[in-house]
Amino acid sequence: MGQQAIGQDHRLGGPAVLKQHPQARQLLPGWDGRRPARGYGVGRPTLFRDRHPGRLDDRVALIRGATHAVTPSVTVNTSQPHDYAVSQVHEAIAEATQKLADVGIDSARVDAELLAEFALGVPRNRLPIAADPPPERLDLLRRLVAARATRVPVQYLTGLAPFRYLELAVGPGAFIPRPETELLVDWGLARLAGIEEPIVVDLASGSGAIALAVATECHGATVYAVERSTSALDWLRRNAAGTGARIVAADVTDPALLTELDGRVDLVLCNPPYVPDANPVAPEVSGYEPREAIFGGPDGLTVIGPVIARSAGLLRPGGYLGIEHDDSQGEAVPALLRADGRYEEIEDHRDLAGRPRFATARRLADCSGPASGAAPAVPRSSGPGPHREDLSQ
Ligand SMILES: C[S@@+](CC[C@H](N)C(=O)[O-])C[C@H]1O[C@@H](n2cnc3c(N)ncnc32)[C@H](O)[C@@H]1O
Repeated sequence: MGQQAIGQDHRLGGPAVLKQHPQARQLLPGWDGRRPARGYGVGRPTLFRDRHPGRLDDRVALIRGATHAVTPSVTVNTSQPHDYAVSQVHEAIAEATQKLADVGIDSARVDAELLAEFALGVPRNRLPIAADPPPERLDLLRRLVAARATRVPVQYLTGLAPFRYLELAVGPGAFIPRPETELLVDWGLARLAGIEEPIVVDLASGSGAIALAVATECHGATVYAVERSTSALDWLRRNAAGTGARIVAADVTDPALLTELDGRVDLVLCNPPYVPDANPVAPEVSGYEPREAIFGGPDGLTVIGPVIARSAGLLRPGGYLGIEHDDSQGEAVPALLRADGRYEEIEDHRDLAGRPRFATARRLADCSGPASGAAPAVPRSSGPGPHREDLSQ
């Protein structure tokens, strides 16, 4: 869970493809929230030759004397800005990029392209050859850009967040999945290799990124997705439809959570709220994402401690736990795992930017309870834990 908005390329496939985005009405008054249909017609931009038909020599003659070099052999008179390979789409994206850069958004170009992809209904990689769009599409793009300029996250505007092979529906009330969490899933899936029908628990599921990635990428897995927030649960239910993932509405710090699975779980994955309360976060995060998804108490470890304790109860001997954490917690989280006394093979892992990002451990084969001073042993029970709400399938 980093602090920056994300979203590079939209990946296809997966069950969680948004058809409609009602929350967008709150963010963009006057828009009915319907996702524009794909493709008003992908064509090519208006090229110089469209405006100046004729032989190549004649067209070259038209731009002779220009002042701005475009290629080593062709120049353009910048006093005639539409003369060379400029389309309305190109202009709209350039204008959007400038507007977003002007308010200090680092990912201005990417965001402009993602919003253009959404508003114009043209895949991002085809924007450079898109035909001039209908005016209402350009108007929608301008309004989306204006909203983005106030720091509404791109994913709340498009209603989509790519995660591995999924496109998850997200909006107000849901944490936006981050690309670094894909590494935690990679690690977890590798631990499941060779296990025929693994049981996997995703603690603090949010919109379901981890749970649904495992459910769709690991054939035969039974996946439990545990989340407490009612608004996040709405997004989770929507994304999980048809995946077979079992949704559990519960508090991951509850010592009685899912005790009926005790000693049987092959893998627990968790991306909890972990930012220390006093840490500054990006305006997109502080202004829009739910606070309970981001902040993890004074040291950021308020949820992580109980998750380590509960996971030791859930895991079978030799089962694995992976927990994402703040880049300041690369020593603290492994230390908590060691202090618990029920784990071995404790390691910390870095993200693609080289920052400490998640800690992993393996449940010891022979131990009966936590080390002294660690969290209390989890009581076993045959029934479901409190607040459990199994909505599966
Ligand atoms: C950082 S988000 C991660 C969401 C998702 N796993 C992901 O990677 O996109 C943390 C999630 O934990 C939930 N959460 C926070 N405290 C919780 C608790 N005590 N019990 C259950 N869920 C909790 C928040 O509502 C939020 O959805």
